[in-house]
Amino acid sequence: MKTSVRDGMLARMNRRNFLKTIAASGALAATGSPVASLAATKTFRLIPAKTGFALGQNNAAQSDLWLYNNTCPGPLLRLPQGAILRADVTNKLDVATTIHWHGIRNINEMDGVSGLTQAPIEPGESFTYEFPVNDSGTYWYHAHNMSWEQVERGLYGPLIIDGNDDPVVDHDICLMLDDWRLDNNDLFHAASLGSLHDWSHGGRLGNWLTVNGKSDPEFQVKAGARVRIRLINAANARILRLRLTGADAHLIATDGAPCTPEPMQHVTLAPAQRADLICDMTHDVATLEEVSGRTAYAAGHFVKHPALGAASAPKTSLETRLPAIPSLAAIRRIPIHMQGGAMGNLSSARFDGTEMSLRDLARKHKKLWAFNGNVGDNSRIFAEIKKGSVVSLDIYNDTAWPHAMHLHGHHFWVVSDDPTAELPSGQRDTWLMQPQERASLVFISDNPGLWLFHCHMLEHAASGMGAVLAID
Ligand code: C2O
Ligand code: CU
Repeated sequence: MKTSVRDGMLARMNRRNFLKTIAASGALAATGSPVASLAATKTFRLIPAKTGFALGQNNAAQSDLWLYNNTCPGPLLRLPQGAILRADVTNKLDVATTIHWHGIRNINEMDGVSGLTQAPIEPGESFTYEFPVNDSGTYWYHAHNMSWEQVERGLYGPLIIDGNDDPVVDHDICLMLDDWRLDNNDLFHAASLGSLHDWSHGGRLGNWLTVNGKSDPEFQVKAGARVRIRLINAANARILRLRLTGADAHLIATDGAPCTPEPMQHVTLAPAQRADLICDMTHDVATLEEVSGRTAYAAGHFVKHPALGAASAPKTSLETRLPAIPSLAAIRRIPIHMQGGAMGNLSSARFDGTEMSLRDLARKHKKLWAFNGNVGDNSRIFAEIKKGSVVSLDIYNDTAWPHAMHLHGHHFWVVSDDPTAELPSGQRDTWLMQPQERASLVFISDNPGLWLFHCHMLEHAASGMGAVLAID
């Protein structure tokens, strides 16, 4: 029964939707010529494979990572807004995998969610993703099968969509941050993958920070340069707090979407979140540090290099046009009570059709978290939503842990009754919920299909903090 709902929905997600989406995107030019009217396709080849890669201080020790095209992070995919991204993927791992295009308002069948929008790509098999990229901004791609292990082992990379009215800058630098758990020999700590303690607490945290696969990389910039810095948090569970000194920085986008430009010295980035900064160098060196812990970790340096000449990008003031939040008068409200985990109040929840004690859920099924008393399960539809509705996910984080809540296929506004809440001015696709926080994630259900809503602390997602929304 449950599966037939899903199969029925999936059957309708066929390639015709792809063509419709391209047509609706405005990618069809006004020339009238069907050949000239097709948006440009850019093709990439992605090969997930086991790769030896050195992490930690001891540069000789090679950890067994799983990477795209043997690089950490995977290759930068960069396209103009309105183009079509095609990715030919051949799985050279010895486990099945998929790729999710995080933050892209994708065609459902290209969303890359294993067991929901596609069958996993088996070892040795190939799969081609092809979809238009209509929103400019900073996105990323990552494995979406056993993500808690595959993303942790390095299956991720940056995805940048260039917009037509992006601010002019001297340098555009993308920084993908991750924390790795290394053992005493500076090797990836594989033995602790899947630790029940991590899953029931804050998720798997690491002890070694990398930025673009390196420790504290240096970037050479022109004197007085205007630099766009794109920050991506690729960690499984670490909430990064970043501080930039030596430059005047303005936040211009959150999760790829424009926001009201505001001066910014510190940025909090939950797992999967992105922040775009426009930074005007005020000193010879600007420094980025991760300051969530007791000691600050150097995360990158931007150093004036005379040979590059002088900066030329004008220091014009930053402006953005933000899409207006829809009227909340006729709204479909979906209350979501988040429960579970260590030190929480969940005593039992429904899983696979039966009510079970949290103890049994943890011991027998490694499930620890629930929405409205249901452990997340991709074969069960949590809410059916009419296409074109204004929807509000009214979330209450009734757990002892923060959670980075991510919605697939849509961007949302964050609304709260709490006058002290710091809300984003633009849209997002991932929102950090503090313990006991309440917030409404408001979106327009304009993208049909089966979409996940889950915590991006990937251990939490694996152990039940997720749900399927069906839009039709
Ligand atoms: Cu970035 Cu469902 O994930
Ligand atoms: Cu969580």
